[in-house]
Amino acid sequence: MSASDFARFLHEIRPHIDTTLDRLIPAEDVAPQRIHQAVRYSLFAGGKRIRPALTVLTGRALGLEDHALLPGGCALEMIHTYSLIHDDLPSLDNDDLRRGRPTCHRQFDEATAILAGDSLLTLGLTTLAAEPVDMDGERRRAAVEMVGNAIGTLGMIGGQVDDLAAEDHWPDDAEAVLEAIHRRKTGALLTASVRLAGIYAGVDPDRDIRLSQLGDLIGMMFQIADDILDVEGTSGTLGKTAGKDAHARKLTYPGLFGLQKAKEMLDATRDQALEVASRLPEQGGLFPSLIHFLSTRDR
Ligand code: IPE
Ligand code: IPE
Ligand code: MG
Ligand code: MG
Ligand code: MG
Repeated sequence: MSASDFARFLHEIRPHIDTTLDRLIPAEDVAPQRIHQAVRYSLFAGGKRIRPALTVLTGRALGLEDHALLPGGCALEMIHTYSLIHDDLPSLDNDDLRRGRPTCHRQFDEATAILAGDSLLTLGLTTLAAEPVDMDGERRRAAVEMVGNAIGTLGMIGGQVDDLAAEDHWPDDAEAVLEAIHRRKTGALLTASVRLAGIYAGVDPDRDIRLSQLGDLIGMMFQIADDILDVEGTSGTLGKTAGKDAHARKLTYPGLFGLQKAKEMLDATRDQALEVASRLPEQGGLFPSLIHFLSTRDR
């Protein structure tokens, strides 16, 4: 199965994701206007929407309908966008370009960007607690807990902390540290995107573990590709500044292993992901195409 099947799915689902986000986020003319403008500026700047797409794709494979999956998937997109706004701040990665536009703190100001990030995190968690309204309350509670753990200090935040610490000093056990950074800073939320659908579908613990394994491999693949694109991509295509990792002395796959070896490791992770996907009962779904898409993406 080729990457184009997932590309078609993404094209088809994208307007539904954007409509759902629009419904869930206060309008720009709601006071305080500036914060809602900043939130919408970053959210509707043209991200790829991979996280909500993953939730819908997984949920469909588990027999759920889109209306049960879109709000939760969009909550993850809000949380992801918060993480990007804060990642770009001067005290973190200090970036000027995101999703093809000036970063939130460049377009508005630093305080507004911090608060816009806070707003998206809060809205994301509130959405998970409240939506879908007709979902069993215990499943919504489990969703908040699972996502909260994924993005907390043992997950995404922990990865971000170690990513920043490694800038100043590459540790002796750099390979293990690098893998742990990527698994948390990027992998945890992508894994949550897959697991969320499992929670909504009420899967048993064994199925949850297998979905987690797949999400984890997809997450590793995604961030190794992100590292490679930082070296090989252009700012125009990426919508963010290319070449910034080497400049900031980030611990990355191409930085540690060289471009060629990093690509081989990406391919090996892709093959592992394909193998895990083939053993899922729902392997007939779009998982193989998604994996090919993410391992060959150019933005
Ligand atoms: C970028 O994520 C940051 C990482 C976690 C690697 P995406 O590549 O999904 O960014 P958008 O959402 O398309 O802008
Ligand atoms: C971002 O990783 C991870 C999170 C935002 C949690 P990067 O710093 O590599 O992402 P980009 O390259 O700025 O998009
Ligand atoms: Mg970063
Ligand atoms: Mg960054
Ligand atoms: Mg990057």
